[in-house]
Amino acid sequence: MFVHSAPFYDAIYAWKDYAAEARRLKALLAERQRIPGRRTLLDVACGTAAHAPYLRDDYAYEGLDLDRQMLALAQQRFPDLPFHQGDMLDFDLGRQFDVVTCLFSSIAYAKTPKRLEQATATMARHVRPGGLLVIEPFVGPQDWQEGRPTATFVDRDDLKIARMSVGAREGDAAILDFEYLIATSAGIERLSERHELGLFTDAQYQHAFRAVGFAVTRDAEGLMGRSLYLGARPLA
Ligand SMILES: C[S@@+](CC[C@H](N)C(=O)[O-])C[C@H]1O[C@@H](n2cnc3c(N)ncnc32)[C@H](O)[C@@H]1O
Repeated sequence: MFVHSAPFYDAIYAWKDYAAEARRLKALLAERQRIPGRRTLLDVACGTAAHAPYLRDDYAYEGLDLDRQMLALAQQRFPDLPFHQGDMLDFDLGRQFDVVTCLFSSIAYAKTPKRLEQATATMARHVRPGGLLVIEPFVGPQDWQEGRPTATFVDRDDLKIARMSVGAREGDAAILDFEYLIATSAGIERLSERHELGLFTDAQYQHAFRAVGFAVTRDAEGLMGRSLYLGARPLA
């Protein structure tokens, strides 16, 4: 995960249009929400809470993440918002929310179909009757390109980053061995980081929702072209 690169996360993903993503998410939620008034939202695997500034006016936003560094960055950025440390596989906040989200393919860190079901069930337990669970998937097994080199560059006056990897695969998990070169006024740092992401099929995602009794729909475009699953918890 982002064990070494957390401090550079926002710089590396500065290309992402979080404002537009949140607008689209809110529109998709509004089409389905039956509960009037200001609603509660738990953002699981919130990272640095980059969606929070665009959601917090409409939702009472709370974030949860496994990584304490990411959470510290989120809390520093939004001192007035509640953040929780927890694992999407087994966290228990003892409360339910109108909406639970798991965005930017974070669900793929569950890595195996069994753990995908476990994480979905854990998040589903935090959705109140009539509420929604929203999962933005990663690419499926047919779309992962083994051997494809990728690179992301940051070119700020105070920070230069080159992050590269060559897509690999172990069974149905994508392996991203990132190599970083990071230049700041302190010098040049080299970092290595492994990310292991489950390549789940559409059927596996949909099964995880149905296993917890949620009615699921798939928006083909989603927030950034990766599609989006929206699961509704029955009222009764
Ligand atoms: C790609 S980032 C997405 C962060 C944020 N949602 C965004 O859109 O920028 C993936 C996040 O998932 C978190 N994560 C990975 N495994 C997790 C787990 N088992 N439980 C909770 N968070 C996890 C990582 O710490 C990281 O912050």
